[in-house]
Amino acid sequence: MLIKRTKTHEPRPSEITPESIYRQRRNIMGAAALAGLGAVGGLPWRPALARVAFDSGKLGKSALSTDEAPTDLDDITHYNNFYELGTRKSDPARHADELITDPWSISVSGHCEKPGKLTLEDFLKGQDFEERIYRLRCVEGWSMVIPWVGFPLSKALARFQPTSRAKYVAFESLLDPEHLHGQRRKILDWPYREGLRMDEAMHPLTILAVGLYGKVLPNQNGAPIRLVVPWKYGFKSIKSIVAIRFIEQQPPTTWNQQAPDEYGFYSNVNPEVPHPRWSQRRERRIGEFRKRKTLKFNGYAEEVASLYRGMDLKKYF
Ligand code: MTE
Repeated sequence: MLIKRTKTHEPRPSEITPESIYRQRRNIMGAAALAGLGAVGGLPWRPALARVAFDSGKLGKSALSTDEAPTDLDDITHYNNFYELGTRKSDPARHADELITDPWSISVSGHCEKPGKLTLEDFLKGQDFEERIYRLRCVEGWSMVIPWVGFPLSKALARFQPTSRAKYVAFESLLDPEHLHGQRRKILDWPYREGLRMDEAMHPLTILAVGLYGKVLPNQNGAPIRLVVPWKYGFKSIKSIVAIRFIEQQPPTTWNQQAPDEYGFYSNVNPEVPHPRWSQRRERRIGEFRKRKTLKFNGYAEEVASLYRGMDLKKYF
């Protein structure tokens, strides 16, 4: 995400690894996987690889997955937006240890029959995890393809029996300025907040992710549990969730509050609606050199366009 004073929205050349190095890394990682994880000790991507959690043999791949090639693990885990851990793309990986994920619980409240508190263990028990390979398009103009491990948000929400007064779902990230150095600065109005309309939240594409590349989420990607809404700009996919509320009115959201002219509540990926300071027509897929066209709803129009029928998407951007 960009705070106004920043001039460029492009990844700096120094932040993009040349293709030859990518290939080299892939080979090393493949070899490391074959030889056992010990082989990668000391290399920067070790934390992600070391967090073995899901039996890849049992992880089904969702039919909703894209068949595009996933982005390199090293880029997914070292090119992040997670302002609680710093504002540079490399900061979240560097400061990942500041995020304390154990113990963890999520409070669920508001308009529902069964409000409650969930520990992560409760959440993980009995879930049918699958691999969901989704495109992620950041509002800044770059994109990735990420093999998440997750389950539909609708399943988690149904447990709490939302009532007919629940029109929106509001989410909140962890507030822990003692450990998260980013929260000791007034960069954003902490904690990070996001929201969805109820039908968006219940849509089968919307998931809670607990892992990526077959292993539990690295802290920098929003451990232990985060939202993923693949047809919206990446900032809607809130990380490290501690609270979920069913509410009647559209909730305030972090980037919309920060700069309402630039970041709307809906934030559907839309090449026809430019950001006030740059076009959204094209994007750079991390790991590629030529820009590609941005697709409406990030390529998920067939699945989600009906949610917005009759809405003026220039007004409700
Ligand atoms: N969630 C929290 N709590 N804090 C953040 O700063 N950044 C958002 C989103 N979720 C952010 C967040 C933005 S701008 C993007 S693009 C995605 O996380 C990036 O997710 P990734 O780092 O896993 O690619």
